[in-house]
Amino acid sequence: METEIIKIDELNIDPQIIQRAGDIIKNGGLVVFPTETVYGLGGNALTQDSAEKIYKAKGRPSDNPLIVHIAELEDMKKLVKEMPEEIYRLAEAFWPGPLTVILEKSDLVPKKTTGGLNTVAIRMPDHDAALAFIKAAGGYVAAPSANSSGRPSPTLASHALEDLDGMVDLILDGGLTGIGIESTIVDLTGEKPTILRPGAITKDMLEKILGEVQQDPDLLNQDTLPPKAPGMKYTHYAPKGELFIVSGDSEKVVEHINELVHTSDKLCGVLATEETKDRYIADSVKSLGARRKEEEIARRMYKLLREFDEEKIEVIYSESFEGSELGQAIMNRLLKAAGHKVLKG
Ligand code: TXA
Ligand code: MG
Repeated sequence: METEIIKIDELNIDPQIIQRAGDIIKNGGLVVFPTETVYGLGGNALTQDSAEKIYKAKGRPSDNPLIVHIAELEDMKKLVKEMPEEIYRLAEAFWPGPLTVILEKSDLVPKKTTGGLNTVAIRMPDHDAALAFIKAAGGYVAAPSANSSGRPSPTLASHALEDLDGMVDLILDGGLTGIGIESTIVDLTGEKPTILRPGAITKDMLEKILGEVQQDPDLLNQDTLPPKAPGMKYTHYAPKGELFIVSGDSEKVVEHINELVHTSDKLCGVLATEETKDRYIADSVKSLGARRKEEEIARRMYKLLREFDEEKIEVIYSESFEGSELGQAIMNRLLKAAGHKVLKG
């Protein structure tokens, strides 16, 4: 299969291109599309065949469920057993936006799409071209992030092409995505709402709408093994080079990383911040941005991890990120990319 790439302009959407992309999905094909978080690898959410094709293109284990993307709240009714009352408040507050909710699925959703589960993950992305595309595709687009399984999520169309060339019909190139890390996932099927994956919609923001929200402490714990929630058991977001996070006091972290690099015979990269980048001596030093600008850090993280790969960097040492808000989501992704390998600075 030849993969075609078409540039799109979110502010001036060409309806013909959107129509074509929508038709590909209706005919059982695959389209990579931009969202406000990362690029998605889209297929028809309501057919088993499309789900199978997505798993194959991504090289993803088929027990790891897909997110169904919608463009209208109304369309959600068909996907779920019941619309709980809080879904209207969540949608009002956060949709379109980087929030995915999990509910009991209806019979319309094939089990292939949900990785065999009786629940379905649903989100409405905050991206005009994505919304137009979902509508043109019939309203229900199943999409994981458009990377090969285990690699960093794509924030540029070129990242998706790198991983999926020849496996998808079309890539809609909308430039660098806005947020840069995947949506927050909140499970609404239990007694209390539970965050399964932190993202740009934070626990505090959710609690204003839902009351108490639980978050698996292991999502951020540096000392335990990765959590065993569905889809969380696989190595994720990982560059080809071996990634280590170095945590602790900033001064000590710089010293420790420099020492590690100095004594290594491998090609070493450092994932630094604006404040520290000039103090490292390594084969490649990249700055995520200023520490207080968490948005910028989130937006650049996956891109920089892929750049280390291009440079054939064998070992990457990253500074660590605690903080509130987005900082937690950033740290969650870094921990997974590093396979939870944390060194104390
Ligand atoms: O921002 C995003 O959410 C991006 C864009 C493309 O929308 N999508 C994305 O999809 O990150 P993916 O497949 O890479 O991650 C979806 C996560 C997986 O960890 C999966 O296990 C979990 O959502 N998930 C999906 N359905 C689920 C379900 N029914 N129960 C529990 N977890 C579920
Ligand atoms: Mg993913």
